[in-house]
Amino acid sequence: MNLEFVPDFQINKTTSDAIKGLLSACFPDEDFHGRDYFKQVPHHRIIAYEADRLVGQLSIDNRVMNLNVNLNGQAVNVFGVIDLCVTPDRQGMGIGTALLQEFETIARGSSRIDFLFLVSKTPLIYKNLGYKTTTLQVSWMKIHEVKQVNYGVATEQISDAFFCYKEISDKRWKDGELDLLGYMY
Ligand SMILES: CC(C)(COP(=O)(O)OP(=O)(O)OC[C@H]1O[C@@H](n2cnc3c(N)ncnc32)[C@H](O)[C@@H]1OP(=O)(O)O)[C@@H](O)C(=O)NCCC(=O)NCCS
Repeated sequence: MNLEFVPDFQINKTTSDAIKGLLSACFPDEDFHGRDYFKQVPHHRIIAYEADRLVGQLSIDNRVMNLNVNLNGQAVNVFGVIDLCVTPDRQGMGIGTALLQEFETIARGSSRIDFLFLVSKTPLIYKNLGYKTTTLQVSWMKIHEVKQVNYGVATEQISDAFFCYKEISDKRWKDGELDLLGYMY
């Protein structure tokens, strides 16, 4: 298996089409509306190949967020995981773990990233890799993924998904409030 780290804007049509097929196969209940991402274009991707076959991918959103905004806040630089998936016939063989390990290696190679972060309903794979879960009231921009319009900012305590993070700088995470300064992934 080979992993490639690519800026999203450099992805060609062949790879984009393969990603679309992968997303449809891995998230059969979702409609991606012909896109190779769910809500918003990511900044980077890590793509897993076996020979010429694209078998998995992890998209990266790099964003400043505001942690504990009601306690004067702290701007934190976040490397976020989006749309992690492995083609169904190759799941359970370590590819997802390898993608996450590469993601962490890339983040740790920078002195600019404070936290790895993601939102998941199935956090086991992340907990196995040392991610912790956090209880948060979050503010985010509501994007309608079909119409591609926004409906303003929501602020809520989310209970039907897990927020997972990993500290990779000297900044420490605190439960409380998080302003995502953008859409929820
Ligand atoms: C979740 C997923 C990316 C994991 O990739 P993978 O290559 O199958 O994972 P690995 O082989 O590295 O296994 C790592 C862990 O993933 C979890 N896992 C494995 N297969 C899984 C599956 N089908 N669904 C959910 N979690 C799974 C297990 O916790 C596993 O740990 P374990 O082997 O100690 O039990 C992959 O199964 C997938 O694409 N699922 C469908 C899409 C999805 O749910 N993406 C995650 C969105 S947050």
